[in-house]
Order: sequence, then C-alpha cells, then structure tokens
Amino acid sequence: MKEVIGLVSDHGGFELKEYLRTTFSKDFEIIDCGVNSEASVDYPTVVRAACLRLKSGEFPKLIALCGTGIGASIAANRVKGIRAALCHDEFTAEMAKRHNNANVLVLGGRVLGKDLSVRIVKKWLEANFEAGRHENRINLLDIE
Ligand code: RB5
Repeated sequence: MKEVIGLVSDHGGFELKEYLRTTFSKDFEIIDCGVNSEASVDYPTVVRAACLRLKSGEFPKLIALCGTGIGASIAANRVKGIRAALCHDEFTAEMAKRHNNANVLVLGGRVLGKDLSVRIVKKWLEANFEAGRHENRINLLDIE
C-alpha cells in the first residue's frame, strides 16, 4: 500500500506543487489539497485547512508551498500539533524529520528549483524520527 501524503500550495507555490504531485504520485498516494490554479489566494486559509486535514488523520505528512515558504510556514506552525519546517536544502530536510519530527515540510515555490525540491522531499520522506531526547523536546513545544 502506498504511503499517503498531503500536498497544498497557494498560487506562489502552485507550479512546483504540480511538479511534485506528478513526480511523487508514482510511489505515493498524494492527497491534493489545492490550489488548482495560479489565481491569487490567501496562504493562511489554504495552508491551515490542509493542516487541519492532517490533524484529522487523513494523512500523516503534508508538503506545503507558497512563494517563499515563509507564509506557509508561519501559518502551519500556528496550528497546534503541527511542526512545520521550511527547508531549502537536503540536510535541513533530513534533520527536520530526525530531530524535530516535522510533520509538515514547507518549500518556497519561487525559491527552489525542481530537481533540488525533489531531493529535499526525498530526504524528508526517507528520514526517521530519532525520538529519545528529541521526543521530550518536541513535547515541550505544545505546552500552553
Ligand atoms: C504570494 O504572492 C506570496 O506572498 C506568498 O506565496 C508567500 O510567499 C508568502 O509568504
């Protein structure tokens, strides 16, 4: 059975989202949470909605994109239980999973090239959370 991954973008990340959807849909079940065109939308709204779908259990991992990745990252991290990591390189993407157990990978559609994006996504998907001391640390993130 294919692993299920959510995918969301605003208009600024739409082109790269579509590329990632095509690239990864061979090996993964991709749940496309929109958007479906380059028409302007508000990233807080679309990203939050996708994060709530993750929290509901529809998929355990989400890739979120906007133009820079910054807005999507801020929006995602305001949802309790979301650990969103904005990554521009493979090492950070790997560590985001190993140490931070990031459940949302954020990419900047106007920042990253397609090939690098694919490599970043692969690193994040292939890495495993190390737990141990990192488990306690991520639990501390959700204290009110
Ligand atoms: C949209 O123009 C742009 O502001 C958005 O995609 C994102 O980069 C915000 O952080």
